[in-house]
Amino acid sequence: MKETIKIAIDGPAGAGKSTVAKILAQKLEYIYIDTGAMYRALTYKIIQLNLDFNDTASLIICANNTSITLDNSLGVANQLVYCDGKDVTELIRTPAVNKLVSVVAQISEIRTIMVKIQRQLGLTNNIIMDGRDIGTVVLPEAKYKFFLTAALEERAKRRQKELLDKGYNEQYKAVMNDLFNRDLLDTTRETAPLKIPEDAIIIDTSSLTLTEVVEKILATVMEGEKDAL
Ligand code: DC
Repeated sequence: MKETIKIAIDGPAGAGKSTVAKILAQKLEYIYIDTGAMYRALTYKIIQLNLDFNDTASLIICANNTSITLDNSLGVANQLVYCDGKDVTELIRTPAVNKLVSVVAQISEIRTIMVKIQRQLGLTNNIIMDGRDIGTVVLPEAKYKFFLTAALEERAKRRQKELLDKGYNEQYKAVMNDLFNRDLLDTTRETAPLKIPEDAIIIDTSSLTLTEVVEKILATVMEGEKDAL
């Protein structure tokens, strides 16, 4: 089987990973996999079922009985997220899901389920995958690894704008607190915490435009693939 090319993008919430990854996927014609969307879809289902977030055993049972799929048929920019066949693309971006998703993502049995699906997607396609543990756990063999970061204030500004555009009038302070708490849970959890992969290229996006970030990554991949592209 021809070896696929894998690009891993990790980093904290609001660093611009998914926006950048989508543009790159379009330019390179790779499959884009938003692993955060998978944890979000499960969190949305758990909220809908009114399960107790402290009851880890039932959350694991729920994860084992949930089907999450990403559909790129409308193009990468319009990736659809399905949970048990229901389109949850918009429903997983609410403040309620933002607040609880890191709790779900802490559970190691749930991570094992997700990582298995994510790895399978990488076997047959050239992919760009973004998340927190892609370069360290999901695709440690990825040829290209990037770690996107930005100052908390800048990330909060971007996230607040995203929420406002969706009609959620969240205060800047509340968004910043939410990001801070999520970063804390994501970086200190026992299983696959957010950390910089040893061989990753670090890009601080605080004062870079979207185009500049995309160009930086593209230049690295183009250089690495110049004989193949
Ligand atoms: O990238 P995002 O904000 O959509 O991710 C939502 C949450 O999911 C984030 O707080 C941490 C978790 N996550 C994770 O633990 N591992 C991943 N590979 C992707 C996301």
